[in-house]
Amino acid sequence: MSGWRKDSYLRYCSPTPKILLFGVVLLILAGLVKLIELFALSITKQLRFDVVVDFSNILSLVISLSAFVFLLAILERILRGNKRNIMYIVRKRLCASCYGNPLRLREGEIEPLVIVSRTDKGYKITVDCISANFDDVSSLEMVISGCMRNKYGNYAVVAKEEDIAGRFVDYYIEDVVSNYNKQSVYKALSDVPSYLTKVFIRKDVYIDYARVLNSSAIVAGRSRSGKTTAIISVFLLPILKQGRDDYGSTVVIVDPKSAELSLCPHVLSPAPDGSVEHILEAIRDFNLLRVERQKIINDFCRSEGKAVKWFDIGMKPCILFLDEFVSIQDMFPKKASKEKPDYSLVDFQGLLRQIATQGASAGCFLILSTAEASVGTGGLETAVNNACGIRVLFKPSLEEARYLWSSEALEVMRERQYSAGDAWFSADDGINNSVRFVKFPRLEFGEYVALADLLSMYYNDADAHSAECEANERCAVSASDDEKTA
Ligand SMILES: Nc1ncnc2c1ncn2[C@@H]1O[C@H](COP(=O)(O)OP(=O)(O)O)[C@@H](O)[C@H]1O
Ligand SMILES: [Mg+2]
Repeated sequence: MSGWRKDSYLRYCSPTPKILLFGVVLLILAGLVKLIELFALSITKQLRFDVVVDFSNILSLVISLSAFVFLLAILERILRGNKRNIMYIVRKRLCASCYGNPLRLREGEIEPLVIVSRTDKGYKITVDCISANFDDVSSLEMVISGCMRNKYGNYAVVAKEEDIAGRFVDYYIEDVVSNYNKQSVYKALSDVPSYLTKVFIRKDVYIDYARVLNSSAIVAGRSRSGKTTAIISVFLLPILKQGRDDYGSTVVIVDPKSAELSLCPHVLSPAPDGSVEHILEAIRDFNLLRVERQKIINDFCRSEGKAVKWFDIGMKPCILFLDEFVSIQDMFPKKASKEKPDYSLVDFQGLLRQIATQGASAGCFLILSTAEASVGTGGLETAVNNACGIRVLFKPSLEEARYLWSSEALEVMRERQYSAGDAWFSADDGINNSVRFVKFPRLEFGEYVALADLLSMYYNDADAHSAECEANERCAVSASDDEKTA
């Protein structure tokens, strides 16, 4: 590390212009040699000296040397790897004073160290600068995104990690333009990927239930932003496709608005008189099942003498999905009556709290969808909110996002024009911890038909495989019907 110098543009450039400059100097030198030769010739002629003036050897040497240097510059440019390229771009932006000196360095202070390494989706740029104020080092996301040009023009900072000890900051850059357009398209139910612990949002973006710390999910976004479709395509269809396990696994879906979902069998909606008592019963059963499964897992742990996870003993995930969560809350009596002491909002919230905080170890997961992102802080109990390690916001705005994530987590996020299915999301599974943009899958088959078929087979048919085949067939038929009508 050396001292920073003001107005020293070339010093912070990549080697190419420096080598080129050296080549130019050599060419000038060749010109000078030629001039000296001509000058010497004319003098010897005038003075009638009998000496041979011939600098052609030196001249050809200098010219070939400069040609070699130019070739070297070109080779250096062509063969320079992406990591070094990016390093020079960022270093120049941070150090060359004509770019504004974002680290506010002063003459002679230690220059920043810029190290670039590859990640699986892009690059990590580590900026370490002892001389600069750490706040300046840690607010370079706009500067770095802005200086990416040419081949890297589509790259921008998507995440940032500060060293805990406050020594350096890692900026993660990715090709956001090609990422922006990536989306899984499922033409038929058979295209929907289904794995025991992983749910896929995109081919290369998944949430691993085996690794998520707080595995309840909160899915927010205004009306018709794609919440229900996303939950169907990413969570419900894949989990239903697996069929039930031998421990009474269950998928409970609640549609308080009696909308499209409620047309599917086994989906719970308020009774015509507005009562939601049966919904509370179903949630209570879900919680009892959770307790039972936990007991079974604990017994396994005891007999094996080591920690056993739900997926180790053949359990499949159980889901409690509450669509439009705020509407459900409103339907419960605020106070229990004497005849029905267990039927109240408090009971409902108590059950949710238990399921959200203790369900993960038994493979029982809560998914809440809500049109108001503010539920993330106000409408949801702190315990439930904290248990929601999976957070999704459809057609996001920064204002709504602030209810779901800390402002530091949102520093790198920029608002854009979004369509249905576009979301910001995070999960505390060690892979998706930082908030990022993702498009949820687009379905080209009737998702409600598929859901209805899978649900009825999930609950009636022991053979999940044949259930899936049958559902596939029906969806294929309904898709071709759609095509005909289109
Ligand atoms: N991932 C997606 N890609 C493309 N269009 C989508 C996607 N998700 C939803 N849509 C469209 O948006 C509409 C509303 O979606 P829906 O899931 O019902 O929204 P919400 O539950 O938020 O009200 C759907 O009918 C569909 O046409
Ligand atoms: Mg909906």
